[in-house]
Amino acid sequence: MDIRLAPMEGVTDAVHRRVHHRLFGGVEKYYIPFITPSHHQVFTTRDMRAIAPENNAGVPCIPQLLTRDAELFLWAAQQLADLGYDEVNLNTGCPSGTVTAKGRGSGALRDPEGLRAFLDAIFAASPLPVSIKTRIGFYDAAEWPALLAIFRDYPVKELTIHPRTRNEFYKGGVHEDCFQLAADAGLPLVYNGNLFSAEDCGALQTRYPDMPMMIGRGLIANPALGRQLHGGAPATGEELRHYHDALMAEYAREYPADTVHGRMREHMKYLSCCFEDSRKALKAIRKSNPGNYPAAAAMLFALPLAECPAYDPDVFAK
Ligand SMILES: Cc1cc2nc3c(=O)[nH]c(=O)nc-3n(C[C@H](O)[C@H](O)[C@H](O)COP(=O)(O)O)c2cc1C
Repeated sequence: MDIRLAPMEGVTDAVHRRVHHRLFGGVEKYYIPFITPSHHQVFTTRDMRAIAPENNAGVPCIPQLLTRDAELFLWAAQQLADLGYDEVNLNTGCPSGTVTAKGRGSGALRDPEGLRAFLDAIFAASPLPVSIKTRIGFYDAAEWPALLAIFRDYPVKELTIHPRTRNEFYKGGVHEDCFQLAADAGLPLVYNGNLFSAEDCGALQTRYPDMPMMIGRGLIANPALGRQLHGGAPATGEELRHYHDALMAEYAREYPADTVHGRMREHMKYLSCCFEDSRKALKAIRKSNPGNYPAAAAMLFALPLAECPAYDPDVFAK
């Protein structure tokens, strides 16, 4: 199986990548959440923290760019090549309103001719192979055949498809027929979306035996998922506790207490899916401050483990 960790801004940062790779593994590639190259043609401190090779030592990473300015894309791709990366991923999927308003992310899908001109320019001169992570339309899945026809005209290293439109954000079902259309076209694909449990991944594998799977929320909720898919053991309670402590210690080396607390709360929202009846503990974590957070976290780790841990969208609605 070929398992990729989806980029998740604010969650899958360099600290997470290092700790996850060291303690659980089972992930072939880690995608770095998007960076948006600025017109000044310098990476910010935040960008550098994400992409600096020393912060990702030993972790197989693919950086991602969010821009629709070909000159900036090419500048950034050259910087990434100079840093030693061997692929750059283009984001045409981000649904955020502030992003799409500038024609970036899935905003690019609203303007197929503009997208084509942009792809013409970057594929003509990119110093690195370009892979793309996309949605299947902006407003409606009916846009997909025309968009797919555009992507087919370029030597895309891999096309990761999240089969939802921009307007569907991350909710509801996925458009399996749209993914199938791309599979029928014979492009090198990666599947992404709603792979929340080992069972979901097994079902995808039955349908598409060699398809690489990019997993986001499912892998943050169950950090052992990749290992399990490779035939390894599920996470023990002790491992999860150790993972938590390692994340917290490494965040504390790099960030102030408030930021550490914010990052840990976010991770714990997902990790709570590994435990039975986590509602009360999660509430304590949500209401915690940096001072009483450890006691709230301990409440979660005292709970029995869920038999089949899986990301539960309802956790975020509670
Ligand atoms: C909090 C959050 C941050 C995300 N950040 C990025 C990002 O930086 N780049 C990107 O291509 N997708 C991003 N995504 C989308 C995920 O990579 C992925 O496509 C989405 O979560 C669906 O996959 P899943 O069902 O396996 O979680 C983000 C999603 C979430 C929930």
